[in-house]
Amino acid sequence: MSYYLAIDEGTSSTRTLLFNENFKLVDYVQKEINMYYPHPGWVEQDAEELYQKTEETMIEVLEKNNVSWNEIIGIGITNQRETIVAWDKNTGKPLYNAIVWQCRRTADILNRFPVSFWTEVRRKTGLVKDPYFSGSKILWLIENVDEVKNAYDNGNLKVGTIESWLAFKLSGKHVSDVSNASRTQLMNIHTLDWDDEILKTFGIKKEILPEIVNTAIENGIETKFGPKIYGMIGDQQSALFGQRAFEVGDAKCTYGTGAFVLMNSGSTPPKPHPGLLTSVGWKINEEAIYSLEGSIFTVGAFFKWLKDIKMIDEYEDLENYSRNTDNGGIYIVPALSGLGSPYWDSDARGLIIGLTRATKKENIIRAALESVAFSVREVIDSMQEAVWTKIKKMNVDGGATKNRLLMEIQSDLINAEIFVPEFQEITALGAAFMAAIGSKNISINDIKNLHFSGIKIMPNNSDKIEKEYYIWKEAVLRSRGWIKS
Ligand code: G3P
Repeated sequence: MSYYLAIDEGTSSTRTLLFNENFKLVDYVQKEINMYYPHPGWVEQDAEELYQKTEETMIEVLEKNNVSWNEIIGIGITNQRETIVAWDKNTGKPLYNAIVWQCRRTADILNRFPVSFWTEVRRKTGLVKDPYFSGSKILWLIENVDEVKNAYDNGNLKVGTIESWLAFKLSGKHVSDVSNASRTQLMNIHTLDWDDEILKTFGIKKEILPEIVNTAIENGIETKFGPKIYGMIGDQQSALFGQRAFEVGDAKCTYGTGAFVLMNSGSTPPKPHPGLLTSVGWKINEEAIYSLEGSIFTVGAFFKWLKDIKMIDEYEDLENYSRNTDNGGIYIVPALSGLGSPYWDSDARGLIIGLTRATKKENIIRAALESVAFSVREVIDSMQEAVWTKIKKMNVDGGATKNRLLMEIQSDLINAEIFVPEFQEITALGAAFMAAIGSKNISINDIKNLHFSGIKIMPNNSDKIEKEYYIWKEAVLRSRGWIKS
């Protein structure tokens, strides 16, 4: 038997999944990753821990299943995007914690650059002015961490997003795949190369950046364990691929730490649409496929916060408390890390409004669920405007899709079918597919012919929720610009 190893390094945990050659999941091992919040709005992780735990999951999943390295056809890596690591090229040691995508510390840095620069950045990278992306995080590291500054001046600095860091530790090569590179704000999505003018304005030398490779890596990258890395792809693009969104207009939403709605936009970058991002979905041989994206920062992270403050004990409580109640006039804006699509407001903060003496815990929990569905609806509205077409079906994946009530509310709100595949490890499956394509063991046509079973949830026209959506949008306005500099 031969297998694929899919590494799925997400924001809150790292996992390695073992797939057989027919893409059936054999087993997986998962380890939680610690998060650090040194100041309000700052989010960090230990890059060394991130790699060590990934390596442990790779070794443990093989040992548990009596599989040896030479039975692995190839490795696919998928990862939390934008998070950046800086390391010394000689020692291979990180010079600071990884700065996580959710981190807002670079909001002020962005204001140094004129509007005309951001207009160019938007055109060239498909991204907007926001501390979410890696470019300003790299600049912060160079300006604020002595070790990074010294390594930069001495020509010893390497930086990379998480797939790049893991690939470096596994192979010694400094590479990044084009889907992750498209989220740094330093890559031109038209040329698929680092953009000299953007780098010059940011003041970042190209030498510190990795070589950009395809998401399906034809010749593979040899690792210290033997098997080659044949695929690397950002987690949201991987989920789009794993959902087999191969036709223009196919859309998916992954409910993870955040929620990310992506639509296949074909082989030419779509025109920028207010509030939405354009990224590279994947690149196989010579063809790049683009994706239109709406990014919502706080979804699973909001449910986790409800658990941390003991509002719920288990995630199942979200549905148990909400199923037989309404929101009782409560509206929540889950902007714990500011607002992403369509507002891009890093000064927004979370809000609960409508509290009265009659408010029950159940109302608040129901409002939390609704806030997620409202946020996704807002993105779908923008997407429909961008492509002038009504979305008829959305494939979903991620932890929160287990919550049937949330999926029902979502279907009502977007007035479209929601398809929940039975197999939920879609992000990892995308990486396994990518490794199989890179190693020339499967084609997109073969993938199209695989059977996916799942549950269809149909909309149940509800005027009530539609009215509530517009009230919620008023709450969003009140959450904006809260942080005063
Ligand atoms: O852009 C951030 C995204 O890649 C994080 O994904 O699954 O960790 O919420 P996730």
